Amino acid sequence: MDGTLSANDISHIVTADKRHVWHHLSQHKPWETSDPNVIIEGKGMRVWNQAGKEHIDAVSGAVWTVNVGYGRESIARAVYDQLIKMNYFAGASGSVPGAIFAEKLIEKMPGMSRVYYCNSGSEANEKAFKMVRQIAHKRYGGKKHKILFRDRDYHGTTIGALSAGGQDERNAQYGPFAPGFVRVPHCLEYRKHEQDGAPDENYGEWAANQIEEVILREGPDTVGALCLEPVTAGGGVICPPEGYWQRVQEICRKYDVLLHIDEVVCGVGRTGSEWFGYQHYGVKPDMVTMAKGVASGYAAIACCVTTEEIFDLFKSDETDPMDYFRDISTFGGCTAGPAAAIENMRIIEEEGLLENTTAMGHYMMERLSELKDKHAIIGDVRGKGLFLGAELVTDRQTKDPVEEARVKAVVGDCMKQGVIIGATNRSVPGKNNTLCFSPALIATKDDIDEIVTAVDGALGRVFG
Ligand SMILES: Cc1ncc(COP(=O)(O)O)c(C=O)c1O
Repeated sequence: MDGTLSANDISHIVTADKRHVWHHLSQHKPWETSDPNVIIEGKGMRVWNQAGKEHIDAVSGAVWTVNVGYGRESIARAVYDQLIKMNYFAGASGSVPGAIFAEKLIEKMPGMSRVYYCNSGSEANEKAFKMVRQIAHKRYGGKKHKILFRDRDYHGTTIGALSAGGQDERNAQYGPFAPGFVRVPHCLEYRKHEQDGAPDENYGEWAANQIEEVILREGPDTVGALCLEPVTAGGGVICPPEGYWQRVQEICRKYDVLLHIDEVVCGVGRTGSEWFGYQHYGVKPDMVTMAKGVASGYAAIACCVTTEEIFDLFKSDETDPMDYFRDISTFGGCTAGPAAAIENMRIIEEEGLLENTTAMGHYMMERLSELKDKHAIIGDVRGKGLFLGAELVTDRQTKDPVEEARVKAVVGDCMKQGVIIGATNRSVPGKNNTLCFSPALIATKDDIDEIVTAVDGALGRVFG
């Protein structure tokens, strides 16, 4: 930390924050008698708060975002250079960084073709939902309009995105929701004992077949799309079981259901080796949405990417004033996002961060598995790349979840040690029991050792 803020400046900042800022996803009552955390500075894997305390960040800005780490001057410079030349023009026109980033992105996504810019993951998902609805109207008289989403998945905070929300605690008190969204069962193998009829063998195929059952129940001529996270994030870091994605793809093709993959968390390297989560499973999506890691939080950007086949549906009749995608995102025209995203992608390629993510992901999985051997409270460790979770249970036989307050105590203990980890939070009722780890893709073995050592100590103190 370079100390550019004096103690007086800091106390003013904290006072102003406490008086006027409404923090995200936070209960403010405790801050009437204590101070919220204000993050002042970041460099690499580390951030410093208002007390000058250093923390290693094991969750990339708390929500899987700062993939290339903090303090990247080259991204800041790319954004600066772009902003003084051309900061904004509405997206009906093109921009230099918008065109360049779209070209680079599509190079990484064989089979995909068009990039629609907007500025949050929720918004990108809303774009996909609107495309599905418009296609239903254009081709099927409005009938094939239903959008399937999965239990435990999350697609964003707007009412439309929450209508596709599989996390009942996130949704509670915000209804009524939009009609035409239908839930399919989750695919968390560790908890298959809670699903009626789940087999011991071939669970992945069975879990995918549950989607087919929903399609048949609803009527295939009413179902337009299926929206899934490749690896579920906030719903408990759920990796797809063996055979799942292959069957999902077959089912979508069989019933002419568009496949929309929400890569808001997994996209742009988080899962290692591949640029996108779905690419590990040989899936061919119709629509892919992405946000967080696209520019690592250096500027707001989100994209809804489609195939050329989808795009073509929106330009078939030039004389029809209703024929095109009648949607706009004001800040989708900001050039800072694509300028930052181009540099973010260059860094990932030049520094070999996809490879590092795979190697460090394996290492972190090994280290967490050692913790599982040591602490009976860990029931399962799972994940892909630098996107990992450890589910805490009171009993490995019954798999009863640890209560949320104790999970939070582990997170709090790590925080005291200067290590920021995460946990599933206000997500699935009674199942907010998974510790979450998603360090920046630049993480080293030393960083991972530091994180795992802190968790080891915290588990010992909280659970004995
Ligand atoms: C999988 C997934 N999709 C969509 C979103 C929504 O993104 P945003 O908060 O940028 O609207 C999130 C946010 O956490 C997410 O995890």
